Amino acid sequence: MTQIIFEFLNKIGFTHPLHPALTHIPMGMVMGAVTFRLASFLPKLRFLAKTGYHCVILGLLGVFPTAFAGYLDWQHTYGGEWEFLIILKMVLAVVLTIILAIIAITDDPENPKFDKKTLFYFLVVLVAIGLGFSGGELQYG
Ligand code: HEM
Repeated sequence: MTQIIFEFLNKIGFTHPLHPALTHIPMGMVMGAVTFRLASFLPKLRFLAKTGYHCVILGLLGVFPTAFAGYLDWQHTYGGEWEFLIILKMVLAVVLTIILAIIAITDDPENPKFDKKTLFYFLVVLVAIGLGFSGGELQYG
């Protein structure tokens, strides 16, 4: 399947890896989520908690195509070879999905509090940094 997808993309003139273009969705949404969450604790900006929560939802939806594209690039460019950074990325992608899902299910953005749920917003940023760092190490060494 990987072969068919990349052959098709080559035919229409797209010769780049797929994953880097999609990584901006979860990475950007996670950064937006924590920024808006923190901003919502400032006077008169409470409504921004909803914006942060919406970032979490879009980030969660973006994880699936991004991880799939990462898998395709790994098969195509790295020959599907198992190495520490790929295993780390797979583990972190699962952790990212779980934390985003926990926030999506349990958070009440109408009533933001500086509690365990806000801590999850920080955790998800740390996981995203790990994914970006390991991805950068893979790409640029
Ligand atoms: C959804 C969670 C993920 C995020 C947010 C993410 C993020 C990133 C980022 C920021 C890069 C650097 C891209 C660049 O050079 O601009 C990268 C590279 C890479 N990632 Fe991921 N990654 C995720 C999941 C995965 C998974 C599950 C795999 C493999 C199964 C994977 C495989 C790769 C590979 C092979 C590269 C090297 C560049 C390439 O050829 O695409 N990633 N990732």
